[in-house]
Amino acid sequence: MSRFYITTPIYYVNAAPHLGTFYTTVVADALARFHRAVGDDTFFLTGLDEHGQKIERIARERGMEPQAYCDGIADEFQKTWNRMEISNDDLIRTTSLRHKKAVGEMWARMQAAGDIYQAEYDGMYCVGCEDWKSEDDVVLEGGEKICPTHRRPVERVKEKNWFFRLTKYADHLLDLYDQKDFIRPESRRNEVASFVRGGLKDISVSRMKKSVSWGIPVPGDPDHVVYVWIDALTNYLTVLGGPDVVAQPGPARERWEECHHLIAKDILRFHAVYWPAMLKSAGLPPPAGIFCHGYLTVKGQKISKSLPATKVDPNAIAEELGVEPLRYFVLREYSLGGDGDFTYEALLQRYESELGNDLGNLLNRTVSMVRQYLGGIVQPWGGHPGEANKLWSEGNAVGDSWTRMEPSFALDRAWMCVRNTNAHIEATKPWVTWKSPGGAADTLNRDLAYCCAWLRGVAKMIAPAMPQTARDILRQIGRPESDADTWLSEPPAFWPGGEPMGPPTPLFPRLDPERKAELIAKWLPPETMAAPAPQTQTPSSAATSAAISAPASPAESGVIDKADFDRVDLRAAKVVACERVPKTEKLLKLTLDMGTEQRTIVSGIAGAYAPETLVGRTVIYLANLKPAKIRGVISQGMILAAGDAEVLALAALDRDVPAGTRIR
Ligand code: ME8
Ligand code: MG
Repeated sequence: MSRFYITTPIYYVNAAPHLGTFYTTVVADALARFHRAVGDDTFFLTGLDEHGQKIERIARERGMEPQAYCDGIADEFQKTWNRMEISNDDLIRTTSLRHKKAVGEMWARMQAAGDIYQAEYDGMYCVGCEDWKSEDDVVLEGGEKICPTHRRPVERVKEKNWFFRLTKYADHLLDLYDQKDFIRPESRRNEVASFVRGGLKDISVSRMKKSVSWGIPVPGDPDHVVYVWIDALTNYLTVLGGPDVVAQPGPARERWEECHHLIAKDILRFHAVYWPAMLKSAGLPPPAGIFCHGYLTVKGQKISKSLPATKVDPNAIAEELGVEPLRYFVLREYSLGGDGDFTYEALLQRYESELGNDLGNLLNRTVSMVRQYLGGIVQPWGGHPGEANKLWSEGNAVGDSWTRMEPSFALDRAWMCVRNTNAHIEATKPWVTWKSPGGAADTLNRDLAYCCAWLRGVAKMIAPAMPQTARDILRQIGRPESDADTWLSEPPAFWPGGEPMGPPTPLFPRLDPERKAELIAKWLPPETMAAPAPQTQTPSSAATSAAISAPASPAESGVIDKADFDRVDLRAAKVVACERVPKTEKLLKLTLDMGTEQRTIVSGIAGAYAPETLVGRTVIYLANLKPAKIRGVISQGMILAAGDAEVLALAALDRDVPAGTRIR
């Protein structure tokens, strides 16, 4: 049996959950649910980071004792995660006794390795980041040194502290980064590797108790507390029993070796540099991998607690639209890795078109027809030749995407199945069959069994994202809800039959335009009205933003004639082979099948896609671009992708078409 241990960052308790923390947690949850469904021994951890100067100050500002303050916010997180169907197996709080014990052990192990020593620290500290700052990390504004992330002055700290010999581990870290998939995506790995190659410094790992009292005491030195990041990172071991238990052979150790940290890029350095060095020093193996995703933004600004104009409250959205539409939206909209802009318009758009029109409608019309034409029962059916295998192989493809941590692809592929099934209904027209003399009950049973079989398959494919919807679909088509708990692991009995179907209930009720406007007005924070103009345009949202902003005048938008566009030869093309271009970081060489012939192109997408994940995919290919020689390879055309400097996502078609089909 495989093991899978997934963690989210432990969130600071300086504010309630927001869309950013919700995002990481939902991604981790969906991955955990997928791994449970395929039968892996799965463990999913989230938690709260409660120590440090930031928390101590905010509690005092509110006139509270830090512990009482932390308890209140912890309660809010618990409630939110319960409501959002977060299936975590444990929730670690750093103020718990078990954690304090684990941090003590970690310190002792690093000390025993000779890696902890005392020295004078004289430098800068940002309380927002809870991090030491060098001259390179700060910007000068109005004579003050400012942390560019928190837009606040850094503080001068001059203390005799304990230090950790980080410098000793530079080579170990570089070796780790060479391991395939230790840091994903690759662009992040390169970033971290160049940081380490640029030269490390030892880090201060304690604070004097007289300046920071809210922390875990340094073992043997009551005048110091452990630096909050050393404290926080250890949490991943605490829940397994602590460093001393993980150091021994046994189930805790085995679980640890399959640990994947899911984080955003703000805390990459702590996870990819400090943490593996600490582990090595403590005589413990590194985690299996670190996956670093991008930022969710509002009008190009990172969603954060300190910027009210970026406030998007997941609870308020769930209240009106339901939890699962929001889970679906964030998993489908953003390709894990890049940044992505959030708009309520895009959320409602996907709600209506993909959830309501595609999936909701498929279920509704299927159940209605089964009741009307077949008295509510669809007899078992083995499928057209090859059909059961097709369902199984689609399930595998979706499963591969979940395994590779690509929720957006997984859902996109599941939606192709939904659309193909709707297209099957249009093509077979059961309502015509029903009216034909004799009613052709066999044909009707076959055509509707087809829909039920695919609905059942789709329910399993999307259960990691929308567990309740999956159960709802299964119940409505007369299947046990527990079907959702297992994956499509072998060629299924295509449609095994089920209980009689009751009247359908809509999964995603329609919203009229007034209701949509009302919802958006309700969700938008009042500050947004005075929000600064967008700083950057995030490519993934370009389509939605364009649709709601005023059209630019022809002169400034560089409009083209239809005739100009007609000269552009866009085609659906299938990737038949793909490999890296040697000695490059970003380039892939792809062989494309265009139906009539094969073409070779070079594309700068290696930062976002591993070569083996592209084979079999249909891409949008610009066929009549003048060929160019790139790194010695003749590239005949290009494929379309979203993103400016960095590729975020490949453009795709929403259902299968033959290779070579013209796109216009
Ligand atoms: O850094 N977009 O806690 P934190 C995407 N306590 N993800 C976002 C996001 C955004 N706009 N904003 C926050 C800490 N996140 C430390 C972690 S771990 C040992 C200690 C998510 O409350 C994302 O996962 O600031 C990011 O890394 C994390 O919240 C930071 O949470
Ligand atoms: Mg933060």
